[in-house]
Amino acid sequence: MNRAASRLQGRPPAFSYHDRKKGLFRRSAGSVLHCDDVALSRLAERFGTPLYVYSATAIRERMRVFEHAFRKVNHTVCFSVKANSNLGILRLLAQTGCGFDVVSGGELERVLRVDRRAAKQVVFSGVGKTAEEMKAALKAGILLFNVESESELWVLAESAARLKRTARIALRVNPDVTAETHPYISTGLHQHKFGVPIAASRRLYAQASGIRSLSVAGVSVHIGSQITDVKPFSEAMVRVAELVQRLRADGHQIDFVDAGGGLGIAYKERNLPDFEDYVAEYADALLRPLRGLKVHLLLEPGRSILGPAGALLTRVLYKKTNGAKKFLVVDAAMNDLLRPSLYNAYHEIAKVEWKEGSSVSATVDVVGPICETGDFFARGRELPISDEGDLLAILDAGAYGMALASNYNTRPRPAEVLVDGKSVTVIRRRETIADLLRSEL
Ligand code: LLP
Repeated sequence: MNRAASRLQGRPPAFSYHDRKKGLFRRSAGSVLHCDDVALSRLAERFGTPLYVYSATAIRERMRVFEHAFRKVNHTVCFSVKANSNLGILRLLAQTGCGFDVVSGGELERVLRVDRRAAKQVVFSGVGKTAEEMKAALKAGILLFNVESESELWVLAESAARLKRTARIALRVNPDVTAETHPYISTGLHQHKFGVPIAASRRLYAQASGIRSLSVAGVSVHIGSQITDVKPFSEAMVRVAELVQRLRADGHQIDFVDAGGGLGIAYKERNLPDFEDYVAEYADALLRPLRGLKVHLLLEPGRSILGPAGALLTRVLYKKTNGAKKFLVVDAAMNDLLRPSLYNAYHEIAKVEWKEGSSVSATVDVVGPICETGDFFARGRELPISDEGDLLAILDAGAYGMALASNYNTRPRPAEVLVDGKSVTVIRRRETIADLLRSEL
């Protein structure tokens, strides 16, 4: 069994190999990668490839782990919709009772479509909210606006005043904490566009508290994404806790601390503890500095809930050799899953079907059909020998996979299916070329 296969063993319950038994004596004839109880090969036959496949069991389980880790404090887990905004996924999450973190009017609309009552657990983040988007959020009665600049404060104040509503606000402060991650997704340093410097925030809080249409309610922070060391989270929280105390001393009522998202997953690292212990560590890092403050904690995880719960299923179209280089040209491309091209991100690739005794491997580049050298899923990767027509699963693609997909090269985006035990639901049909042309004049 290859590395991916052995890693998958004992990784409950999203993607795992099940033995295929054959003949009268039910001898093992190899194994097939399953999502919950459904063979990925069956899904590929029924729905075609490329195909996004999600495990409902894994999503629920990961939410449960988060809820459990923070059970001792008042908290709301607000799933970060940008990570995966499919209505079927949001509906499943809403059923667990969670809230949502949105960054646009479009994301808010998705949440409202799924469950209007979820609005009261919605936080609205983002550096460029428009007055229109603010109005929609005010009308929906969301929980909290995370305000990122002084100018935004004034636009929000005016929007709320016009609607005769009060906007509950937190300022997103920039704690100036370094977090080890890709530079494109690190956000907590003062050179980044996000938030207001902690030092300047007290003045802004004072201004906000003088405005009738605003209600100062919290402090918010988000230091970046795919952070696997919990220390920077704790450093940021220490600074937030100090600020909460100062603000309270200044006379503000601070009920909420929004810790943002950012907890990383094991794309490649083998040394992360199991998820339950890992989230417990994360909870400890956040909660220790907040001890005694009696705040309602808001969390905005995206990747850590959805990432490992989804895979992109693709079929090998062609094998190709250029000199010493071997390529597998697959039917998925960077428009379907952008992370390797954009961040040079690593995604484990697993062969879906294994025949008994086939253990030879080769070093290959796995590439898509798009006309760019950057269109790859793996470079110089040792993979079990694959033939044309074989299925591969690109793992850990549940977050920022379909959400970042585009129609580049006029490629219709993949279908998405949600597997729950033995049952399979299409939560997004495959796009057609007609869909792509419809909005053009
Ligand atoms: N809250 C805020 C304010 C955020 O900006 C983000 C992510 C999250 C929560 C959720 O973070 P998570 O728990 O998923 O790390 N496209 C990139 C990731 C961009 C993250 C942007 N902000 C990727 O594929 O790695």
